[in-house]
Amino acid sequence: IIPLVLSIFNDVMATRININGNINEEAFVSVFDHGFLFGDSIYEVINTKKNSPCFLDDHLQRLHRSADGIKLNIPFNDEWFKNQIARTLVEAANQESYIRIVVTRGIGDIDIDPSSCHSPCVLIIVTSARAYPLELYETGIHLALVNVKRNSKDALNPGIKTGNYLNNVLAKIEADHFGAHDALMLNPFGQLTESTTSNFFFVQDGRVMTPSLDCGILAGITRDIVIRIARENGIPLEEGIWPIEILDKADEMFLTGTVKHLIPVTRLDGKIIGDGKPGTITRSLMHFYERLLEELES
Ligand code: PDD
Repeated sequence: IIPLVLSIFNDVMATRININGNINEEAFVSVFDHGFLFGDSIYEVINTKKNSPCFLDDHLQRLHRSADGIKLNIPFNDEWFKNQIARTLVEAANQESYIRIVVTRGIGDIDIDPSSCHSPCVLIIVTSARAYPLELYETGIHLALVNVKRNSKDALNPGIKTGNYLNNVLAKIEADHFGAHDALMLNPFGQLTESTTSNFFFVQDGRVMTPSLDCGILAGITRDIVIRIARENGIPLEEGIWPIEILDKADEMFLTGTVKHLIPVTRLDGKIIGDGKPGTITRSLMHFYERLLEELES
C-alpha cells in the first residue's frame, strides 16, 4: 500500500516563492525579520493531489489558530490565500507539489518586542512534492525515544505550529545519533507525545491508541482524518495520556503527517515491534487513507 502520490515523482523540481502576492524563483527576507531573529513566525505544510491542495480549509483554519496563538494579525483572508496558492502552483507547474505557507512577524527592531514589527511577511513556497523513500513504507521506520522533551504546553504550546522548531530539531539530531529515522518525544511529565514532524499512533489488542491533544502535541490534520476513518470503519480508537511503558505491549506503531501520510514504525529503540513488519491495522488504515486521497480527485 505505497502512497500513490509518492510514486510518481520524477518531476524536475521547480520552485516558486510568493512573497506578499509577488511570485519569483527566489525570494529573500530581511535579517531584521523577527521570524529570522527569534523564530517568531507560524507555518503550514500542504500537499497536493493532481496538483490541487489537499484539505486546504483545514490547513487555513489551523494557520489562523496558530496566528491567534502568537497574537499575529494576518493581513490576508482565505480567499487571498486560495488565489495566491493557485497562482503559485500554476507558475511552478510541478506534477505534484509541496506547499509551505510561512507568516513571519515581519521587520522590526533588533529586540524581542514584537511591537516594532508593523507588517507580517507572508510567504507561499511551492516546490516539487517531497517523497519518503518508498521502501520505508514496506519495511517500516525506526524510532528512538529521545531525551529531549517535547515543549510543555505551558511554555511553547506544540498545538501552535510556530516556526520555532528547535525543540524538534534537537530531537531529530538525537534520533540521528542513535541511528534511528526519527524521534519519539515525551512531555515533561513523561507522557507520550509525538515525533518531530508527525503524530504518533500505536495498536494494542486491536485498539488504535494515540496521545490526546492534552499531552501537548500538534492537532495534526492527518491525525484527525485517521481518527475519523478508524471510527468509520469500526476500528476501536482511543485518545489518551500514557507513560512510555504502555508501549511494551504495543503490537503495531505508525506515524502520520501531511508529507509522509501514514508510515509504519517497526522498531523503537532497536526493539522490534510485533513481528517486525508493518501491522495489519496499520496497513488497512494506510489503505483507507490513500483511498480517501484518491476520492478527493473526483
Ligand atoms: N509537520 N506534529 C508535528 C510536530 C508536525 O510538525 C506535524 C506536521 C505533524 C502532523 O501534522 P499534519 O498531519 O497536519 O501534517 C505533527 C509538517 C508536515 C512539517 O513540518 O513538515
